Amino acid sequence: MGKVYVFDHPLIQHKLSFIRDKNTGTKEFRELVDEVGTLMAYEITRELTLEETIIETPVSKATCNILSGKKLGIVPILRAGLGMMDGILKLIPAAKVGHVGLYRDPQTLQPVEYYVKLPSDVEEREFILVDPMLATGGSAVEAVNSLKKRGAKHIKFMCLIAAPEGVKVLQDAHPDVDIYIAALDEKLDEHGYIVPGLGDAGDRLFGTK
Ligand code: PRP
Ligand code: URA
Repeated sequence: MGKVYVFDHPLIQHKLSFIRDKNTGTKEFRELVDEVGTLMAYEITRELTLEETIIETPVSKATCNILSGKKLGIVPILRAGLGMMDGILKLIPAAKVGHVGLYRDPQTLQPVEYYVKLPSDVEEREFILVDPMLATGGSAVEAVNSLKKRGAKHIKFMCLIAAPEGVKVLQDAHPDVDIYIAALDEKLDEHGYIVPGLGDAGDRLFGTK
């Protein structure tokens, strides 16, 4: 069963409150999502492994630590995942970036895939799949399917807000994928929107409707 980690850092929680606010306009919404992307990247990279190396400082040799282990890949789910991507890359600029394009059919709520492009060395990378919203879980499950079909073996899912329904669907479909969130909300409404949520993440990020 995939574990669920809630990032309760006060800065993440503070910024998330303004992201939720319906009076927050597009510019500020985008900036806040970007900032929370950076803060969540800081938290999720705590588990990265280190190896010792010798560095020469201006004074002497020093035993220091650098990152070791698997290289990272960031995969935003289009469109809304793009809003968190730059914030993540600020901390891990050497990560490669893939894209999975999915939209949720408004009637059936089923995900429809329209684009996939991943780094060529999929099997060697550890992926962070990013989307602000985990609602019914259909999009996340489909995106993980898409990565696994192409050879990905190590995947984490990171989002701002999750509904309990979506967490269960993702855990059941992909028990090997841990889930990293800023908040676990109450439920889904009859249209598949997260309550209280933040509304439509893509529309709020890009100013569409
Ligand atoms: C939103 C969101 C997720 C999906 C979550 O995308 O960004 O990808 O819905 O819903 P689910 O868990 O029920 O699948 P949307 O389909 O609105 O597309 P967009 O990002 O292009 O706006
Ligand atoms: N997608 C969104 O953007 N918001 C929700 O609440 C659910 C799905």
